[in-house]
Parts: sequence; structure tokens; C-alpha cells
Amino acid sequence: MSDDESTRPSRTIPLAGVIGMPVAHSRSPRLHGHWLARYGIPGHYVPLHVLPEHLAEVLRILPRAGFVGVNVTIPHKEAALTLADVVTDRAALIGAANTLIFRPDGKIHADNTDGYGFIANLRQNAPDWNPAIGPAAILGAGGAARAVVASLLDSGVQELRITNRTRIRSEQIKAEFGARIVVYDWAQAGNMLDGAATVVNATSLGMDGKQPLRVPLDALDPDALVTDLVYTPLDTPFLSEARARGCTTVDGLGMLLHQAAPGFERWFGTRPEIDQAARDAALS
Ligand code: ATR
Repeated sequence: MSDDESTRPSRTIPLAGVIGMPVAHSRSPRLHGHWLARYGIPGHYVPLHVLPEHLAEVLRILPRAGFVGVNVTIPHKEAALTLADVVTDRAALIGAANTLIFRPDGKIHADNTDGYGFIANLRQNAPDWNPAIGPAAILGAGGAARAVVASLLDSGVQELRITNRTRIRSEQIKAEFGARIVVYDWAQAGNMLDGAATVVNATSLGMDGKQPLRVPLDALDPDALVTDLVYTPLDTPFLSEARARGCTTVDGLGMLLHQAAPGFERWFGTRPEIDQAARDAALS
């Protein structure tokens, strides 16, 4: 073996992974593992449990061990953005990165594909959905909500209503994203749904082990599209109640699948298919 080959393992077996803390619960290794097997790609995708104080050092070292990139999850998404050399516009707008590419020139390229994944999931599972047809209503103002807000504004939503238990986080989003944002008080969440064409739960409420999301749905329009970023359980009580009122609903698992696809393509060279087999793999 030449010296060149021995010092550049990425030329033979590309490695990728997800950096988080905790990370054991992540479904990404199973999803990427499924795609690697399906396309016969001799790569690996592993969970990497990394402390915040070690993130910068780990990101410097990984390319030398054959890593072509990583996903980044809680609590590292904001820090990853500041450690990157090149940042996409959408990652800068959202203020967080979820996909890093280690370039051959040594630079770290940071992207955020969460908003893309959110929209792609709705387009795949509710093809008739038109984001420009009426107001969108978002419950929650955390990191996931910021990606949803950015992508909905980008998709042509004219009025975006937002409510959050901690009101200041909604106010901050309005300050950053501008005049199309209308802030509602958390106690007014039910009223916010009146006339909304797109309704999104971007809080963690309703997740297995958490409190349920309790919002009166009386004002919910049966023509609204309702989606939940929570996907454990897949059919949240919020989604099933909305469906009982006649709404079209889309579960949150597809967002996880779609946000993963651009990273997989950049690292491993194949655009992966998002189908039932990919859903089953992520849930396995
Ligand atoms: P993520 O990156 O998944 O969005 P996050 O930034 O911690 O995670 O945001 C979690 C969201 O769920 C926030 O909107 C949070 O509201 P606060 O900003 O008030 O914390 C919301 N959330 C979590 N637990 C909640 C609860 N018990 N009641 C209402 N909202 C809750």
C-alpha cells in the first residue's frame, strides 16, 4: 500500500455518523445503515456520544479517521454552526447545523436540512397541500420550530402564527424572521388555529413519556393540513384528534427521513429513496 492510501482511509471506506449527547436513541444509524446495505455501499454510519467541551476537537480529528461528514443533534446543533468554515444560507438563517461535510480541502461545510425535510415530507404525503393558500400556525419556538418557520416562509406562507409556552422565544423568532410572523400567547393557542391552512406541533408535547399537547381544536378548519414533529408515537393524539375533525394529517417520521437524504447523498454519492422500507428501517 502506498503512503497516500494509508493516510487517506476515506478513499476506501467512507465513514459518517451522528454526534449527540445522548445519542443512543437516535434512529439515524439504522436508517443510514439500511440505505448503505440497500445500495451496496461499503461505508458505515455510527452513533458518536460527544461531550460539548470535546466537540471542536472531535470535529478536527474525525476526517483523519476516514469520516466524510456527520449529522449533529442535540445539544450540538448551534455549536456546530460556529465551528464550521462554510455555512449555507439556510443554516445561518435557522442558527443551527444538522449536517456537516468534511471537504477534501480540510474545511467543514455546515448545512441545515431540517426545514427541507419538513417541506419534503408534506409534499410527499399530502401532494395537494398548498402552503400559500392560508395562514400557518406553529406550536413551539425551539430549534425544530425555527427550521419549520424558515422553510414555510420560503415556501410562500403569507402569515405565520406562532405560540410558545415561553413567549420570548416566539418574540425572538418574530424579531429575526420579520413581519409575516404573528405572535400569540400560549393561552390563546386554540384561537390561533382559526382559519389556519397549515398547523404544526413543533413542541415535544405528545412524545412518549411527555405530557400530552392540550390545545382546543374547536376552531380547526377541516380543510387544514395538520402535522406533528413528534413521531414517537407515530400517530400522536393531536394528529388523531385533527383527523377526527376531517383534517388531512402527516406524521413526523417522514421529516426525519427526508432531512437525512441530502447528507447521505453528499457523503456516499447516492440519493436514497424514501419509501416504506426506509420508514420500517428507521422504526426498527
Ligand atoms: P427542539 O430542538 O426539539 O425544538 P427545544 O429547543 O428544547 O427542542 O424546544 C422544545 C419545544 O417544546 C419548545 O417550544 C418548548 O417550549 P419552551 O420554549 O417554553 O420550553 C416546548 N415544550 C417542551 N415542554 C413543554 C411543556 N411542558 N409545555 C409547553 N411547551 C413545552
